[in-house]
Amino acid sequence: MKTQVAIIGGGPAGLLLSQLLDLHGIDSVVLERRSRDYVLGRIRAGVLEQGTVDLLRAAEAGSRMDREGQIHDGVEISWHDERLHVPIKDLTGRGVMVYGQTEVTHDLYDARDARGGAVLHEAEVTAIEGLEDDRVTIRFTHEGEENVLEADFVAGCDGFHGPSRKAIPESHRREFERAYPFGWLGLLSKTPPAAPELIYAAHDRGFALCSMRSDTLSRYYVQVALTEKLEDWPEERFWDELRTRIPADVAEGLVTGPAIEMSIAPLRSFVSEPMRYGRLFLAGDSAHIVPPTGAKGLNLAASDVYYLHRAFDQFYNHRNSTGIDTYSDQALSRVWKCERFSWWMTSMLHDFPQTGAFERRMQRAEFEYLQLSETARKSFAENYVGLPY
Ligand code: FAD
Ligand code: DHB
Repeated sequence: MKTQVAIIGGGPAGLLLSQLLDLHGIDSVVLERRSRDYVLGRIRAGVLEQGTVDLLRAAEAGSRMDREGQIHDGVEISWHDERLHVPIKDLTGRGVMVYGQTEVTHDLYDARDARGGAVLHEAEVTAIEGLEDDRVTIRFTHEGEENVLEADFVAGCDGFHGPSRKAIPESHRREFERAYPFGWLGLLSKTPPAAPELIYAAHDRGFALCSMRSDTLSRYYVQVALTEKLEDWPEERFWDELRTRIPADVAEGLVTGPAIEMSIAPLRSFVSEPMRYGRLFLAGDSAHIVPPTGAKGLNLAASDVYYLHRAFDQFYNHRNSTGIDTYSDQALSRVWKCERFSWWMTSMLHDFPQTGAFERRMQRAEFEYLQLSETARKSFAENYVGLPY
């Protein structure tokens, strides 16, 4: 099998890239280790920046999002019972779109199907060879057989645990990491959202988030220690803990219902530099992880794909290799700013086990500064809606 760009990973980054390349007349094959149902069963991000929304529209995968997604012009941050409304649209001219990653992935699969795109499921990449040569060879298993895909380039869109990043020799790669001593326990339920806007809630017992997918589907999170096990969290315990951490007036009106899904995600900040090695280009979680506070993970995957599809378009359609040569620096420049924002928001709102009285006062001062200063709110909003590409 031969193609121009081999794409490893059929998550949002890989699917969006293959669709955009196709629209620019560039051939690709997506190899995804899991089944389609498995990929669509993962409940992850819920908030899209304007840049991501525009890119999905450009990829001809935005029509259901435009019909069913919710545009939010504001967001709330709370500290116990104090509520701060941040009017992100008034402050920046832009809002965000509430539309789940599951739906985005669904729409991208449909868009690939409509154009006859090659997306192989249960195709697990086992080796990536020839990154410094004229052509790349990808070895993968599919339906119990060993297969080979040859390509000009390979896009590593295979998430944090995939083989792409590890195909870069250690001597050419530098990793930066911060692991946080807690995770987020999430619950999805068929209930109306607790409030019209998302609420990021700081509390002495730990962080909580009230989010949503639609008027009838809610997504909630509570910060938990990494030692916590899912089986120790019956639904009633989750709801009780959530009610304790969010403002009392919101807790009073909270509608609870059976959980459709519950899971624990660890929090991590991680960047691997560079994002290109020879014929390999990393995009999305394969190159970087942000803690979920601020909803940047999926949006960063989309901005990488923006730079990368443009680079391949320049290379194949305009005989210009500037884009592929500058891809890593350009993507990393935006990545680090989003890493900063996600780290800052995580630091302000979570309970750190080792936090002393001084650090707690610092967190409180951050919150009061946001309450006091429109400049501070504007800076927050500018990052929340998404920095320009
Ligand atoms: P992924 O979605 O991870 O896709 C990578 C794909 O590569 C996977 O489908 C995987 O099966 C495939 N793959 C891996 N190895 C191989 C192989 N050897 N061969 C072939 N295929 C392979 N972000 C937010 O903004 N908000 C959130 O609430 C949020 N929650 C999250 C919860 C969890 C548990 C996780 C893991 C992430 C969460 N994120 C969240 C982050 C967000 O979901 C990711 O940033 C986003 O999925 C990145 O997309 P991606 O395509 O780069 O990677
Ligand atoms: C969601 C997740 C986030 O990390 C976030 O900042 C906002 C919303 C969500 O899953 O709905």
